[in-house]
Amino acid sequence: MTGLLDTDVTAEHADHLLGVLREALSNAARHAHASRVEIAVEAGDQELRLSVADNGRGIDPAVVRRSDLANMRSRAEELGGTLTLSRGEPLGTILEWRVPMPGCTDSVD
Ligand SMILES: Nc1ncnc2c1ncn2[C@@H]1O[C@H](COP(=O)(O)OP(=O)(O)OP(=O)(O)O)[C@@H](O)[C@H]1O
Ligand SMILES: [Mg+2]
Repeated sequence: MTGLLDTDVTAEHADHLLGVLREALSNAARHAHASRVEIAVEAGDQELRLSVADNGRGIDPAVVRRSDLANMRSRAEELGGTLTLSRGEPLGTILEWRVPMPGCTDSVD
C-alpha cells in the first residue's frame, strides 16, 4: 500500500475499493486456481488504484467480453473510473481498478 490512504481516501471510495477487492479475491479463489495473489493499493495525487494479480489459469478474453464483471465495473464507473482485466505474464489474471482521487475532477483515461 502506498500513499495517504488513511487521510485522503473518503469512506465512499474505501467502501468501493474493499468491495472490488473482496470480489476479486473471491474470483481468484473460485475460478483462477491460483497459488499466489498480489494486491497493490496506491493513492496518488490524481488517482486511486487497486491491482489484484493472480498466477492462476488466466481469464478467457471471450469471457471478459461476454461478462461485464458487473459489480466491480459499476463500482469504478460510479466514481468516474475504469476496470480492466488482462492476462498476466507468464500466466494468471491482472485486474486493475482505477478511479480519480476524491476531490480530483479529472477522469482517469
Ligand atoms: N481471476 C480469474 N481467473 C480466471 N477466471 C476468472 C477470474 N475472474 C473471473 N473469471 C471468469 O470470469 C467470469 C465472470 O466473473 P464474475 O465475477 O463476473 O462472475 P462469477 O464469479 O462467475 O459470478 P458471481 O461473481 O456473480 O458469483 C467467471 O465466471 C470466470 O469464468
Ligand atoms: Mg465473481
